[in-house]
Amino acid sequence: MQLFLDTTDVAVLKDMAATGLVDGVTTNPSLIAKSGRNMLDVIGEICAVVEGPVSAEVAAADTAGMLDEGRRLSTIAPNVVVKVPLTRDGLIATREFAREGILTNVTLCFSASQALLAAKAGASYISPFIGRLDDHGADGMDLITEIRTIYDNYGFDTEILAASIRTPAHVAQAAMVGADCATIPPDVFQALFKHPLTEKGLDQFLKDWAKTGQSIL
Ligand code: E4P
Repeated sequence: MQLFLDTTDVAVLKDMAATGLVDGVTTNPSLIAKSGRNMLDVIGEICAVVEGPVSAEVAAADTAGMLDEGRRLSTIAPNVVVKVPLTRDGLIATREFAREGILTNVTLCFSASQALLAAKAGASYISPFIGRLDDHGADGMDLITEIRTIYDNYGFDTEILAASIRTPAHVAQAAMVGADCATIPPDVFQALFKHPLTEKGLDQFLKDWAKTGQSIL
């Protein structure tokens, strides 16, 4: 399973990429706004840090505008994936991007039927939003399961990118039901390393080791 970081914070990204565990990055207009920086600069810097896919989202709502913006974004670096909203216009743009060989991440997916259309349009990635569905009273993980079934039934190669991840449990559950990737906010990514029993166990091991008076080197 590929793990992406959902961030526009380049310093945080560099720190986490040093673990060798960050396979890619996703961004969205809200995260660009939060950074307070120029989008093209931020995406360029991110692409210099990670070799894997970096999603950069279009801001236009119409197909022609999405195509113009997506083509521009795709010139930033070879690993840019153009993020397109799951609308009628967005899927028409997705189909054209696929024809042109531009990778796409179709975002804001909240139903299995939307995901089916995105795959038929040739999306490289589909982003079902787990946390926002949970907030809405549904079970986001059920959506991942449904999409997995549909894509496997028909051999679609669109990758399922679990998004709107809120907890380490979301990551584990998405992996269990067959998501290809998950995009994770930095605080949740940090939490993936941790378990109270790991900390407690290590503390005890180190105390006992100190009592031996030994040194490995
Ligand atoms: C995914 O590509 C989105 O950027 C992100 O996962 C949205 O997460 P949120 O619902 O926490 O804003």
